[in-house]
Amino acid sequence: MLITVVGSGRVGTSAALQIALKELGDIVLVDIVEGLPQGEALDINHACAILDLDVEVTGTNDYRDIEGSDVVVVTAGMVRKADMTRLDLLHKNSEIIKDVAQNIKQYAPKAKVLVVTNPLDVMAYVMWRVTGFESRRVMGFSGLLDLGRYRYLIRKELGVSYKSIRSMIIGEHGDTMVLLPRYTHVGEMQLTSMLSGEKINEMVERTRKAGAEVIKLRGWSANHGPGAGVAEMVEAILKDTKEIIPTSAYLNGEYGVKDVYIVVPCALGRNGVEKIIELDLSQEERVQFLKSVEVVKQAISQVKL
Ligand code: 2OP
Repeated sequence: MLITVVGSGRVGTSAALQIALKELGDIVLVDIVEGLPQGEALDINHACAILDLDVEVTGTNDYRDIEGSDVVVVTAGMVRKADMTRLDLLHKNSEIIKDVAQNIKQYAPKAKVLVVTNPLDVMAYVMWRVTGFESRRVMGFSGLLDLGRYRYLIRKELGVSYKSIRSMIIGEHGDTMVLLPRYTHVGEMQLTSMLSGEKINEMVERTRKAGAEVIKLRGWSANHGPGAGVAEMVEAILKDTKEIIPTSAYLNGEYGVKDVYIVVPCALGRNGVEKIIELDLSQEERVQFLKSVEVVKQAISQVKL
């Protein structure tokens, strides 16, 4: 298997390292900065040598080297600064994504594409439109990151293993993301019967702001969380596990919504999105979800395609 990671910044290299740790296949790192992907590749190769991971990592500035990729992970783009919203990144990053999409279309026309660049759902839509790939082959990352942040708070609060916490998230990767306490189970118990509404709301709010919390503390945005989540998704695709993972996917009538990329539960496998799961939403959850859809649609309408 061949996995390409476009963008050799913190997120791209963290994703590459975590993909290497799973020995899913060889890895190509692409970046426009000369020397950067080559240096990062060498460093990761050394880590693999220490850990007995039989993986070859190649760094390149030439898209021809991505030929034959099974999965392309796209992290290229500007990252969010403390005073920026994800939507501020819209205009700058859509130009970058269009260029990357043309190269993927030309050199890796059979690949599944996992977009990580923000604003996430909008960039996934741009990638889909510009590549012209079947929508199930183009996916957006973020659900696992936001869910991970929520699970972290639940574990801390209740003192139970992550293995016993199951949950789901839908909506935009942004301020209107929709956490689903009703679909959160700890062991066999519903979270809503274990914690007060006030406590749950506090955790939901903190999850929504967790990306900004990281930036505020250390001055740059998250990379280890995104890297871990990307590796999980790449694994589900390449091993064809059909695991249900919150994924920014193209909706064509599901949830009564059309022509948008937004996070919903998806079974991932060798074709990308194998199945979209339609959760039975309460009135309140549905209102929140549709509000989130509107935010993404509004942003998409601002991109020249
Ligand atoms: C995050 O949530 C920056 O979107 C990124 O950390």
